[in-house]
Amino acid sequence: MDFYRTVLRPSLFALPAERAHDLTMWGLSLASHSPSLCAWLAGQHAVADPRLVQTVWGRTFRAPVGLAAGLDKEGVGIEPLAACGFSHVEIGTVTGQAQPGNPRPRLFRLKTDEAIINRMGFNNHGAAAMAARLASRYDVVGGRRRPSVPLGINLGKSKVVDNEAALGDYEISIAALARYADYLVINVSSPNTPGLRDLQAEAALRPLLAGVRRAVDAAAPTCPLLVKIAPDLSEAGIDGAVDVALETGCDGIIATNTTIGRSGLRESAARVASFGAGGLSGRPERALATQVLARVARRIAAGPKKIPVIGVGGVDSADAAWEKICHGATLVQVYSALIYHGPDLIARIHRGLGDHLKRTGLAHLGAAIGRDL
Ligand code: FNR
Repeated sequence: MDFYRTVLRPSLFALPAERAHDLTMWGLSLASHSPSLCAWLAGQHAVADPRLVQTVWGRTFRAPVGLAAGLDKEGVGIEPLAACGFSHVEIGTVTGQAQPGNPRPRLFRLKTDEAIINRMGFNNHGAAAMAARLASRYDVVGGRRRPSVPLGINLGKSKVVDNEAALGDYEISIAALARYADYLVINVSSPNTPGLRDLQAEAALRPLLAGVRRAVDAAAPTCPLLVKIAPDLSEAGIDGAVDVALETGCDGIIATNTTIGRSGLRESAARVASFGAGGLSGRPERALATQVLARVARRIAAGPKKIPVIGVGGVDSADAAWEKICHGATLVQVYSALIYHGPDLIARIHRGLGDHLKRTGLAHLGAAIGRDL
């Protein structure tokens, strides 16, 4: 029996979306205090396939699929999420200052599209609170008490801070959190903080990433630095962002965040319009996000330094994950499909990727990266 589909999902979907999210996070946070429950969950979801194991940024990823940012904004559920089969967990977005986010309602399900619209607006308790929580559970990178999978920490800009002062806000988070992160992500692509995505333009991105790089080097010199981009950039905008990321010494790119577009939806236009502004994620974003990923990967391949790309957007099956990998993703992330399909999806994707390898005669996942570019 698929317990998620038959019991959990109907119960959660009977609640308003954010209430269901809060309840889920409460459950995950309780579970994180029970090593025996996490060990049981891990046993249920384990897929040990050496063909899927990769070393990226000197860290071991036991499989490609990890959790995308935005679900565990505070880092309260890292161990149970890892136990659900994710090969890495990205927490955040966290900002320099605590902030409430946008007024509710701000999270909407589009069930027939298996999609989500959100305008959460980086609701979070701030970098210092996250650092205190991490310090109570883990050692800094290199220590013995570490998360059981690589931990990404996604950093955004506080709403009250102007774009001109953005670097200072990111620096606060870096100083507090870089030592706990297996990789850091600079998020300049959320549509829900006014003006944030303007930081993706080359003229703004160059000094920002150069300053961030200096701050990371000072706080945690071995910490990989990634930048997460929107799927709504023009082709020239994508190329420009990739060039700046390479120039400023970034170690990877995440493509993509949610889209402000509303195309390809089966929900009625009136219902979609009634939700208002926000970023769309899930199945309808898949093709657009893969297109942007492919452009990023091609640009990197033509450039001076090869850095990995994480593919995100609409991954809901082994086929969708395979598509991302063949279009240049070294790692893949999932958020929306977890809401619709439950945690068993991750092991299903990993097993399905094993089947894809068998079918194509490839000995290791690494051989599939970028083969369709
Ligand atoms: C997100 N996403 C997101 N991304 C990010 O970098 N910081 C964040 O705080 C959030 N918050 C957030 C909240 C909600 C409710 C959703 C659905 C998404 C974007 C997410 O990480 C991912 O990039 C997109 O959702 C596309 O992937 P999926 O959902 O199609 O798998």
